Amino acid sequence: MNIQLGSITPVVLIKCSITLFIIFPGCEPTKYCSPPPPPPIPLAFVDQRLKTVYPVIQKFKNIITSDPLGITQNWVGSDICNYTGFYCDNPPDNITATALAAIDFNGYQLGASTLDGFIDQLPDLAFFHANSNNFTGTVPPKIANLTYFYELDISNNNFFGAFPPAVLGMNGLSFLDIRFSGPIPRSIGNASATLIEVLFLNNRLSGCIPYEVGLLQNATVFDVGNNFLTGPLPWSLGCLEKIEQLNFAGNFLYGEVPELVCELGNLENLSLSDNYFTSVGPRCRKLIKSGVVDVRQNCIRGLRHQRPRRECWWFFISSHLYCQYPWWFTTYVPCWAPPAWHDWHHHYTPKGSKRNLLSYAALSRNRL
Ligand SMILES: *[C@@H]1O[C@H](CO)[C@@H](O)[C@H](O)[C@H]1NC(C)=O
Ligand SMILES: *[C@@H]1O[C@H](CO)[C@@H](O)[C@H](O)[C@H]1NC(C)=O
Ligand SMILES: *[C@@H]1O[C@H](CO)[C@@H](O)[C@H](O)[C@H]1NC(C)=O
Ligand SMILES: *[C@@H]1O[C@H](CO)[C@@H](O)[C@H](O)[C@H]1NC(C)=O
Ligand SMILES: *[C@@H]1O[C@H](CO)[C@@H](O)[C@H](O)[C@H]1NC(C)=O
Ligand SMILES: *[C@@H]1O[C@H](CO)[C@@H](O)[C@H](O)[C@H]1NC(C)=O
Ligand SMILES: *[C@@H]1O[C@H](CO)[C@@H](O)[C@H](O)[C@H]1NC(C)=O
Repeated sequence: MNIQLGSITPVVLIKCSITLFIIFPGCEPTKYCSPPPPPPIPLAFVDQRLKTVYPVIQKFKNIITSDPLGITQNWVGSDICNYTGFYCDNPPDNITATALAAIDFNGYQLGASTLDGFIDQLPDLAFFHANSNNFTGTVPPKIANLTYFYELDISNNNFFGAFPPAVLGMNGLSFLDIRFSGPIPRSIGNASATLIEVLFLNNRLSGCIPYEVGLLQNATVFDVGNNFLTGPLPWSLGCLEKIEQLNFAGNFLYGEVPELVCELGNLENLSLSDNYFTSVGPRCRKLIKSGVVDVRQNCIRGLRHQRPRRECWWFFISSHLYCQYPWWFTTYVPCWAPPAWHDWHHHYTPKGSKRNLLSYAALSRNRL
């Protein structure tokens, strides 16, 4: 009996442990084994495109460091189109599909150390508005790959760093509002085909304005107000035939206000106040009278509301007048036709067609 039992017992034990192994994989028989969690109910997405972006969003949710308004609370489940801040629409390449088309986090106060691996991984994204959040790091260079992307608003975050060059390589970008420091890159001219609204106000831009700004011939708004820009205004600004709003107020600009700029046919508002300009020609003087041009708080003799002489004197004897470009940059005019020709020309050019073409029709713009 004893001998028989002794020979049976090991067999039984082995059999038992095999059984245990099959039921609870990885579970050691000597430890307490809890039953495995029930398999998660598979998420049902209304479209394969939403299934693709789901892990991207969840990964981003996990790296969010602050969410004082509880915005991410409903970022659960498959109903991505109902997540706060996310908007779906039918993408242009398949109008029966549903895609994550837009993100509007304006004012949500979310914090995260990077947007890398997030917006650049959302292939159908048309715009990203994240004004007044606390995102840091750099702008993901891969956003240049997003086919439908046309608006980037990440101002009022903590993105201070050099200008992200990838942004200017983008094909469709029409509205650019970002935060950065340093000079305006000369490569801004590369975005000339599509860049329509350029908002660089309240940044830490420094250096002189490159003549390539004048290549943005489709721009209607160029706003670099309240920065640290210096040097003269480039004459190339006279090539911005569609420009309506030009804001240079609150910088350290000086010299003569180019008459070419005051001849622009669509100009509605040229704000030059709080700089150190010293002279304006007759054409600009007309626009000062009519309220289109504002030159208050400059150093223009004979005009009212100018800086005290002493202030101007201090400015011009101090050393921050250095301009990194050769002298001819200021007077270089990269468009061949005189403004008078453009005046005639733009009456026959349809306006704003690019944006309508690129935007998903149903999305309303919601900007701070
Ligand atoms: C999304 O939310 C809306 C209103 O809040 C609701 O009517 C709709 O059923 C929701 N969609 C889904 C798929 O739950
Ligand atoms: C368009 O999207 C729908 C819904 O996702 C899908 O069933 C269909 O196959 C897509 N068509 C093409 C041509 O990709
Ligand atoms: C933004 O983040 C920084 C640290 O990354 C923190 O010091 C600051 O208080 C945050 N600002 C807001 C408004 O949450
Ligand atoms: C995305 O961009 C990278 C470079 O940043 C490039 O190598 C790649 O081919 C691009 N992909 C697409 C689909 O455009
Ligand atoms: C802008 O275009 C020039 C050539 O015109 C090219 O050398 C430069 O690399 C481009 N810059 C960017 C940021 O794409
Ligand atoms: C302005 O936009 C039109 C299309 O809307 C384009 O054909 C043209 O080349 C653009 N202008 C410049 C200077 O890129
Ligand atoms: C012109 O633009 C400046 C700067 O954006 C703004 O402060 C001012 O109110 C505008 N003037 C008019 C008359 O719209």
